[in-house]
Amino acid sequence: IIILAAGKGTRMYSDVPKVMFPLAGKPLLGHVLQTAAALNAQTTVVYGHGGEQVRAALQGDHIRWVKQEPQLGTGHAVMQALPAVDPQNRVLILYGDVPLIKGSTLTQLAELGQGGLALLTAHLANPQGYGRIIRDGNGAIRAIVEQKDANPEQAQIKEINTGFLAAPAHLLQSWLSRVGNHNAQGEYYLTDVVAEAVADGINVASLQPDELEEVTGINDRLQLAQLERYYQQTLARNLLKTGTSIADPARFDVRGELSVGKDVFIDINVLFLGKVRLGDRVHIGPHVVIRDSDIDHDVEILSHSVIDGARIGAHGRIGPFARLRPQTQLSEQVHIGNFVEIKKSTLDRGSKVNHLSYVGDSVVGKNVNIGAGTITCNYDGANKHQTIIEDEVFVGSCTQLVAPLTLGKGATIGAGSTITQDAPPGELSLARTQQTTIKGWKRPVKKIKS
Ligand code: UD1
Ligand code: CA
Repeated sequence: IIILAAGKGTRMYSDVPKVMFPLAGKPLLGHVLQTAAALNAQTTVVYGHGGEQVRAALQGDHIRWVKQEPQLGTGHAVMQALPAVDPQNRVLILYGDVPLIKGSTLTQLAELGQGGLALLTAHLANPQGYGRIIRDGNGAIRAIVEQKDANPEQAQIKEINTGFLAAPAHLLQSWLSRVGNHNAQGEYYLTDVVAEAVADGINVASLQPDELEEVTGINDRLQLAQLERYYQQTLARNLLKTGTSIADPARFDVRGELSVGKDVFIDINVLFLGKVRLGDRVHIGPHVVIRDSDIDHDVEILSHSVIDGARIGAHGRIGPFARLRPQTQLSEQVHIGNFVEIKKSTLDRGSKVNHLSYVGDSVVGKNVNIGAGTITCNYDGANKHQTIIEDEVFVGSCTQLVAPLTLGKGATIGAGSTITQDAPPGELSLARTQQTTIKGWKRPVKKIKS
């Protein structure tokens, strides 16, 4: 496999190489590399100016990187990669900016017209910009003519070159060595190998993809956004057809890997990032973001919650407006309510933090109730400290728990306390100034000017 990825991507107007732009959270070239990897073929990427960062980001065990400098056309690009390829091998040409090509289409292309040249072509209502497939009276392919080199009659042809092709390496090598750059763009065109193959009496076969989106290349950000929508809608449709409810397939985004159990419901504008698992009967409200998390069965996530790197046990209820940060582990039946932030903490079965609280670096036991506005003061400005809250503790509202600290089993903390020492089990601890009443005190009244 040779992947062409040396182009500058001028129409992205960006400092980022085009093939690094993400589709569904993964670089365009990453998609192509993943598809290539599944074919188990030796893979060479032809990269260009500024491509070092591409190479660094997508380095893989079985990928060979070849630099093309300067970039003199697609034929020239393939020439840079061929010396590293066994001449007896069959070569498949892919593109770093055409991300959704299917492995099955590539396998068919690789197997088509064994020993000869095989092209992936498509029929477009508007073929503008593409190379045209020239066939003779018998329907045999004779050549490809680029848009810029086409005469008006050729420009009428609706069958276009997708760019994907397969041929034996040694034949590609010999055809390319005969290809010149006397054309409208002064480039060495890969497409000119077709006429060379015909001149050699080699059979040129062709095949069409199932979907046009498979061969859609990305040149600008509009095309990228459109292909992203296509990708997301395809995913949503597949989930809908296999038993997942999605309130609106047009407002659904997966940038990574999502696995779902039975009878899952996903409301509008939910974003899944990285690796997310949803167990059976999970219900996700609107405007929720979930990254790299594992959500067990019968969990309800209410609207506007942000969940990152968390494990949520069965029958949990999260949100609305909750934030779970990395290394949050909740056992079954834990409730996390509105404006609550949990970080690097475990909460055991049945515990509740329902309103306006911050729990960080904590180990919380079973059936603990943390009142509104409670804060674990886990950071002294230099180090993080742990708070241990044992089973059945009740923390009154508006309490600060200054870590390191242990609240013993069944302890009760009075509301409004600043707790700086361990609280013994089963007792009431509180730390607040005594309430006083000033008898006969009068409110100030506004002075009347005379
Ligand atoms: C190419 C085809 C055209 C086809 C179209 C499909 C040629 C001459 N033309 O045209 O028939 O219809 O793709 O999209 O092949 N690249 C390099 N090095 C270079 C030049 C290009 O690596 O020197 C890479 C680009 O990064 C890109 C691909 O090759 O991924 C295609 O190059 P591009 O310039 O976009 O070719 P088109 O003019 O679109
Ligand atoms: Ca192109």
